[in-house]
Order: sequence, then C-alpha cells, then structure tokens
Amino acid sequence: MCNSVVSTRTRTAIVTGASGGIGSAIAAMLHEEGFALTLVGRDPDKLAAVAAAISAMPGQPVHYLAGSLAEEAFLDRIVDDHAGRYGAVDLLVNNAGVAGNRAVGDITADFLDEQLAVNVRAVILLTSKCLPMLKEAVRQHKSAQVVNIASNAGKRGEATLSSYSATKFAVVGFTESLHDELSTAGIKATAICPGLVDTRMADDYRDSVGSDEMIAPGDVAEVIRMTTRVSRSCVVPEVVLLRPIEWLQPPGA
Ligand SMILES: NC(=O)c1ccc[n+]([C@@H]2O[C@H](COP(=O)([O-])OP(=O)(O)OC[C@H]3O[C@@H](n4cnc5c(N)ncnc54)[C@H](OP(=O)(O)O)[C@@H]3O)[C@@H](O)[C@H]2O)c1
Repeated sequence: MCNSVVSTRTRTAIVTGASGGIGSAIAAMLHEEGFALTLVGRDPDKLAAVAAAISAMPGQPVHYLAGSLAEEAFLDRIVDDHAGRYGAVDLLVNNAGVAGNRAVGDITADFLDEQLAVNVRAVILLTSKCLPMLKEAVRQHKSAQVVNIASNAGKRGEATLSSYSATKFAVVGFTESLHDELSTAGIKATAICPGLVDTRMADDYRDSVGSDEMIAPGDVAEVIRMTTRVSRSCVVPEVVLLRPIEWLQPPGA
C-alpha cells in the first residue's frame, strides 16, 4: 500500500473482488489507464499481493481494504476510506461475486443468502452509498461510471445455476435502472455479461473445458478499458462475452 495525495485531475476507482480472477485483471488495467485505486476483497494476503504487483508498475496509488461485502458496516468503511482519501470516485466496479452449482431441490437458505448478499445486496447498496462520490466526480470531470459484472447467466437461465442466474438477472436489471435514473446526470452504467472465464470460479468445469477454451480475465478488463475510453456522450449499457460454444442453437433448430 502506498500513501500519496492525488490531484483533483486524477481519476479514481473502487474495484470489488480485486484479490484475484477478473477483479485483479481489471485493477491492473485501470492502473495502466492512470486511475488511483481502492481494491476490495476478503483475503488480505491476496489483496496485498495484487496491490504490490500492480504498484510495482509506475502509476497512481493502490490501496486495499479487506472485509466481507455481505456486511453493511464494511460497505460504509469502503466509502469512508475512499472518500477520505479522494473525495470522489470516477468508476465503481462491482465485480465481487459468488457462484455454485445446485439443482433446484438442493438449494438451501445459506447457499442462497450468500449469493443474494454478495451478488445483489452489496452491488445495490455500495452503488447507493457511492452516489455522492460519483456525483462529485461528475462535478470535477463531467462524467462518472458504474460497471457491474453480471454473467451470461444473467441473460439466459441455466440448469443447476438457477439461484446464481437469478442474482445476475438482478444485476442486469439494476444496471438498466441505474442508466434510466442517472445517465442524464453524467453517470454511466454498464453491465458486463461474460460466459465461462478462466478463474477460480470456473474450477468445477475444468474436467471438460481447458483454460485455453475459456474467456481470459484480461478479455473482461479490455472491455472495461473500452468503456472508460469512449466519449462522455457514449454509454455502453451492456456487453455480452461468449465462448464460441455458448448460446448455440440445438442442431436442426
Ligand atoms: N469466472 C466465470 O466464469 C465468470 C463468468 C461470468 C461472470 N463472472 C462474475 O465475475 C465476477 C468475478 O468472478 P471471478 O471469476 O473473478 O471469481 P473469483 O476468482 O472467485 O473471484 C471472486 C472475487 O470476489 C470476492 N468475494 C467473494 N465473496 C466476497 C465477499 N463476501 N466479500 C468481499 N469479496 C468477496 C473474492 O474475494 P476473496 O478471494 O478475498 O475471497 C474474489 O476477489 C463475479 O461477479 C462472477 O459472478 C464470473
């Protein structure tokens, strides 16, 4: 972690789920793009390693906060910490998520509650709590952004992914509502809906799908890079990323 004061011209971002997988790829890309960063995850050691690797490259400061997004007090801590340091957030990336395959009859309250808490409740609450900082970024830089990592399961339901899919449909719906409510105030909202990505979350599929057949975490980061580079007047509301085999019509359809 490094300490420094950034000028009001420097853009800043909060990235949740930044301790590995897609989140650490997004964080590295945003560091390259010149953002000062607050990285969020549960595991402090993994976060420290990601922050150290990113900070080894020249750029703006990288801070991290470890805790559970399922706890509202931790959401407040993220906002207070980032606000105290920067006063504004140009980009909030709600990336953290939990998955798990279960047939409908095997879904328990614990299994469902964790997915709802991390994939939906934290996304909505953290965005809501960040709104004053997003508005301050619009005041300073005329634009701000919220990027929510949904899933292709947030566009089409899949067997054994019903609860996960329901949470990701919620993320897509929340993102569409954000656009309707905030786009004319300068706050852009984007939902990213990837198919299978080569991270720890894909481990259950490794017997049948090779790493080289999965979407790379860096692919998701590149799409977000694009959304940060388009002009202020251009909103990218949703991007679906698929592997060649996903969403194919059945033979003869
Ligand atoms: N991999 C895929 O195939 C795929 C496809 C489509 C969409 N997605 C979505 O992409 C996002 C990133 O997933 P990933 O593939 O990078 O998975 P991952 O490698 O398992 O990373 C998940 C991240 O979320 C964090 N996290 C989980 N629960 C948390 C909690 N209660 N509080 C704080 N942080 C928490 C983890 O932190 P710790 O490591 O510290 O626990 C980790 O940083 C998720 O929203 C996922 O649903 C993934």
